[in-house]
Amino acid sequence: MTSSAPSSSSNLRTVLVTGGCGFIGVNLARSLRAAGYEPIAYDNLSTGRLGDGQAAGYVEVIEADVLDADALASAARGVYGIVHLAARTGVIDSVNDPRGDIEVNVGGTLNALLAARDAGASAFVFASSSAPLGSVDPPGHERLAPRPLSPYGASKLAGEGLCSAFAGSYGLAANALRFTNVYGPFSYHKGSVVAAFMKRIMDGDPLTIYGDGGQTRDFLFVDDLCRAVTAVLDRQPAGDLFQLGTGIETSVNELVERLVAIFPDREIPIRYEPARAGEISRSFSDISHARDALDYRPSVGLDEGLHATRDWFVNAPRA
Ligand SMILES: NC(=O)c1ccc[n+]([C@@H]2O[C@H](COP(=O)([O-])OP(=O)(O)OC[C@H]3O[C@@H](n4cnc5c(N)ncnc54)[C@H](O)[C@@H]3O)[C@@H](O)[C@H]2O)c1
Repeated sequence: MTSSAPSSSSNLRTVLVTGGCGFIGVNLARSLRAAGYEPIAYDNLSTGRLGDGQAAGYVEVIEADVLDADALASAARGVYGIVHLAARTGVIDSVNDPRGDIEVNVGGTLNALLAARDAGASAFVFASSSAPLGSVDPPGHERLAPRPLSPYGASKLAGEGLCSAFAGSYGLAANALRFTNVYGPFSYHKGSVVAAFMKRIMDGDPLTIYGDGGQTRDFLFVDDLCRAVTAVLDRQPAGDLFQLGTGIETSVNELVERLVAIFPDREIPIRYEPARAGEISRSFSDISHARDALDYRPSVGLDEGLHATRDWFVNAPRA
C-alpha cells in the first residue's frame, strides 16, 4: 500500500477512484479537485502509473487490487462516493481470456458496490461502455436491448446489472455511464485509435486504416467525460444508466485528415489493410438522456481535443 499524502480528516466530500492512476483516472482527479472533492486513488498499477497518480492531485494513492474486498472496504470507509474505473479494458484480451476478464470486471465491480453500500456512500459511478450494446443501428441509447459481442461487453453489462440491483435492493445511488471512445492526455498506454495513431505519428510509423476508413466512432474528449462523472456525484441520481459521447459521428478517414492537419511538419504515411472481422461499422451515441438529467453538454470539439492531446503526446515520457 502506497500513500502520497495523508488522507482527508473530514472525509466529507472524499471520493474513492478505483483505477485512479489510469488514463481516465488521472484526468478525473483534476476535475474532482476543481469541483471541490478530495479524490483518493485505489489502483493495482497493472496499467496505471504511480507517478501519474501522485501528480494528478489525489490526496492519497492506495496500491491495492479491487479483488481484495477487505482492502477495498477499508479504503471506502467514510467516503462520500466511489467512482469505479478499475477494469481490464481490452476487448481482444477479453476474447483471449474471458474468465480473467469476468473475474476482474464483474468481481471487482461487486466488491466496489459492496464497499460503497457498507460505507453508506452517497453516490457510486460505474464506468461502463458502449460494448454492452454490441452491433446496433446507431445512435446507441439506453433503451436498446444490449447484446454484447465480447466478454468485455458482457462484463460491463453485468456491472450495469449489479448497479441496478444495488440501487433496487439497498437504495445505493449506483449509476452506470457508458463511455464511447475517450481520448486525451495520459493515454500513452491505450490501444484506442486516437492514442494508437498519436504514438505512431510520434514514432514516425505509418497509420494503418483497416477497411476503407469509412467506419465511424463517437470521439469524446476526456475533460467532457470527467464533467459528466462529476455531475453524477453532485446530483446523485437514484440509480440510472447514461449513454455518453458527443452525439457526433466521425469516420476514421476524417480523424486521420484532422491528425495530418495538426502535424504540418511531419510526413505521415497512411496504409490501408483489409477490414478486421467483427469491427463495428458505425457507432455514435444519442446523449439526450444525459443532457436532460445531468445537464451534460460536451463542449470540446474534435480539433480542440486533438490539439490538447497532441501537445501532451509531444511532451509525454515514453513508456
Ligand atoms: N478509455 C476509453 O475509451 C473507455 C471507453 C469505455 C469504457 N472505459 C472504461 O473506463 C475505465 C477506465 O479506463 P481507462 O481508459 O482509464 O483505462 P486504464 O487502463 O488507463 O485504467 C484502468 C486502471 O485500472 C487499474 N486496474 C486494472 N485492474 C485493476 C485491479 N484488478 N485492481 C485495481 N486496479 C486495477 C489499472 O492499473 C489502471 O490504472 C475502465 O473501466 C474502462 O473499461 C474506457
